[in-house]
Amino acid sequence: MKVPLLLILTVWLNTQHGGSALSTCSHPPSQWCSSLDSAIQCGVLKQCLEANFTRSHQNVDPIQVGLYYESLCPGCRLFLSNILFPTWVLLNDIMSVTLVPYGNAQEKPVNQTYSYECQHGEQECLGNMIETCLLNMTKMAFPIIFCMESSGDVIKAAEPCVELYGSSELTWDNIMSCVKGDQGKQLMHQNALKTNALNPPHQYVPWVTINGEHTEDLQDKAMSSLFTLVCSMYKGPKPAACGGAQRHYRSYCHNE
Ligand SMILES: *[C@@H]1O[C@H](CO)[C@@H](O)[C@H](O)[C@H]1NC(C)=O
Ligand SMILES: *[C@@H]1O[C@H](CO)[C@@H](O)[C@H](O)[C@H]1NC(C)=O
Ligand SMILES: *[C@@H]1O[C@H](CO)[C@@H](O)[C@H](O)[C@H]1NC(C)=O
Repeated sequence: MKVPLLLILTVWLNTQHGGSALSTCSHPPSQWCSSLDSAIQCGVLKQCLEANFTRSHQNVDPIQVGLYYESLCPGCRLFLSNILFPTWVLLNDIMSVTLVPYGNAQEKPVNQTYSYECQHGEQECLGNMIETCLLNMTKMAFPIIFCMESSGDVIKAAEPCVELYGSSELTWDNIMSCVKGDQGKQLMHQNALKTNALNPPHQYVPWVTINGEHTEDLQDKAMSSLFTLVCSMYKGPKPAACGGAQRHYRSYCHNE
């Protein structure tokens, strides 16, 4: 299940860059958002994700997945890129994701403001800050953060990743003025407060909460199969994606 989706995303990202001939849209506009495949084929994945993201599912609370992490921690990058983002792409109707980039960082009050020390150094503090500003500035933060975290170099990828999803309001310059200014510091302070308020306190990252709760059992299930966990915990009508892998991935090559 994970592998084909990642393939699709990779193909999609490549076609966005290279504009290859893979995008043959054979669906009428009313069907464009009906599946991930059609959205990709018709080049409207961004719009469909936005529409699905803002449309709330009637009456039933989505499963809230919280991720407390650091931008350069290898385990965090793997979980975010290979598990959390692909699961959210499929299940964004029934799950909401809260990202808190801070993790094992340390905050010190300095001259009426704050300074930060990060486990993986200055670059990690920069990555955390860019992601924090993105989360405050755009609904497309998660795809941009996925783009960064799944790339070879999180910090170098940030600007091209922003350009991939950018708009007249969301520019690299706007993000950097948040990153370098008081706005970023204030937002990071909120992350510090949220992380320090965890109960039980976090012992490592990535640290996952489900509906605000952390237990070893929930953490293990999230790490091994977040998709199954979210589908099984959701109390409303199950979306088609929860029906099983075979419904989503029909491109088998049968012998005979
Ligand atoms: C948007 O939501 C519909 C209805 O839940 C779902 O079937 C579809 O796969 C979603 N599209 C994308 C691109 O996530
Ligand atoms: C804090 O402010 C004082 C006086 O304004 C200044 O001398 C000092 O360098 C500042 N410290 C830092 C870490 O910015
Ligand atoms: C962004 O941060 C400001 C405070 O700095 C806050 O008032 C605002 O609600 C935040 N917006 C979002 C979308 O989080």
